[in-house]
Amino acid sequence: MTAARPEISLPSGFTWGAATAAYQIEGAAAEDGRTPSIWDTYSRTPGKVRNGDTGDIAADHYHRFRDDVALMADLGLNAYRFSISWPRVQPTGRGPAVERGLDFYRALADELLEKGITPVATLYHWDLPQDLEDVGGWPARDTAERFADYTALVADALGDRISTWTTLNEPWCAAFLGYGSGVHAPGRTEPAAALKAAHHLNLAHGKAIGVLRDRLPSAAQTSITLNLHQVRPLTESAADLDAARRIDAVGNRVFTGPLLRGAYPDDLLADTAHLVDWDALVHDGDLAEISRPIDLLGINYYTPTLVSGSDGTSDAKAPRNDGHGRSDHSPWPGSEEVVFHLPPGETTAMGWAIDPTGLYDLLRDVSRDHPRLPLLVTENGAAVDDYVDPTGAVNDPERIAYLDGHLRAVHRAIADGVDVRGYFLWSLMDNFEWAHGYSKRFGTVYVDYASQRRIPKASAHWYADVIRRNGLLP
Ligand code: NOJ
Repeated sequence: MTAARPEISLPSGFTWGAATAAYQIEGAAAEDGRTPSIWDTYSRTPGKVRNGDTGDIAADHYHRFRDDVALMADLGLNAYRFSISWPRVQPTGRGPAVERGLDFYRALADELLEKGITPVATLYHWDLPQDLEDVGGWPARDTAERFADYTALVADALGDRISTWTTLNEPWCAAFLGYGSGVHAPGRTEPAAALKAAHHLNLAHGKAIGVLRDRLPSAAQTSITLNLHQVRPLTESAADLDAARRIDAVGNRVFTGPLLRGAYPDDLLADTAHLVDWDALVHDGDLAEISRPIDLLGINYYTPTLVSGSDGTSDAKAPRNDGHGRSDHSPWPGSEEVVFHLPPGETTAMGWAIDPTGLYDLLRDVSRDHPRLPLLVTENGAAVDDYVDPTGAVNDPERIAYLDGHLRAVHRAIADGVDVRGYFLWSLMDNFEWAHGYSKRFGTVYVDYASQRRIPKASAHWYADVIRRNGLLP
């Protein structure tokens, strides 16, 4: 007897993946020639990261990657999204590559390929070499040139075995949390610098796409991953609609405009004209470089963003909490009057509202606006207060419910004609959750940091079943 076909099946060939990032899992922070990144510096700055945690050891993946790839094979993943550490392969951000650093990624890619898992590499997941920050960081135009050089080194070394490439992960966070609210490295709180960083990240992406196209085989696929905000106005009032427009501009269209339409949106330029001189910032030819065609767009989604216009009653001195961390400084230049609200319903351990409809709406909207661009969900997942029970198991029904709901949303989007090619769970395993340190667990595999033992959680077994049947139970 053959098993009944699940009603909620994904298209054949759908990519089932999990994602991580170098600084969050690798550890080995001072090995094989790696120099400090801005996150090494930031995490050592008292008061910046919860509990004083750093990525020095993290999940020790640098030494345990073969075991970790074996876990991925047990899950049945057909793709693995990871990032390459810039200061590991090009210490200080200039000059030749360090072969030992590249060897790690060669060995990782080979191990994945041997197990039938497609490597999906991200060139930048926030670990800028500290030496480049010391001469200006992303607000300095030269950093985009440095990124192009680094991209060439990596493409030449790994282009024979990695065929799917992402330039940047969530440049919004790199620019606006790193240089605006300061809740991420390097911790600067300068709205003008944040906008300059955004432009130079866009430029770095465009230059990197050019480099990848020149150096990789023609079948290689290029992409960028954005954390597009699914922005909702609290009411349909003119003030709330305008707040949503502002956040959409400085949260989303500051990237999708130049990347996918070849121009910064006029309303963004107007909202931020008092902060930067855009004519001086954007040089002739920049927009043509930034808008080079890409093959895929990666979307990271966790929760929607609910906003209203200032009603005059909110306490302007209260620390902001827009889901991106508490800070006295806004990561939203030109939108300082916007009030953020916690959307209704249950939340994850991050305090983020659980709303799968937001993912459906986001995929639908992006595909409506950019119909010919295939999409990948490059991150989605939940932090849960996981613990090992007396039997040695980790039960995470909350995570299973979260993933199930969001995969249903992906399925519904595909059924409605959206071209979603794959889904990457964040994260393969528990890791360094940036300013939250190790206090937040997103993994489908539990990491006991004292022993570095890995324990697949109930959600890992659940995800393996989903992958095996290429869908969800009805
Ligand atoms: C987005 C980031 O890319 C990743 O590094 C982070 O851990 C997750 N979201 C969860 O916050």
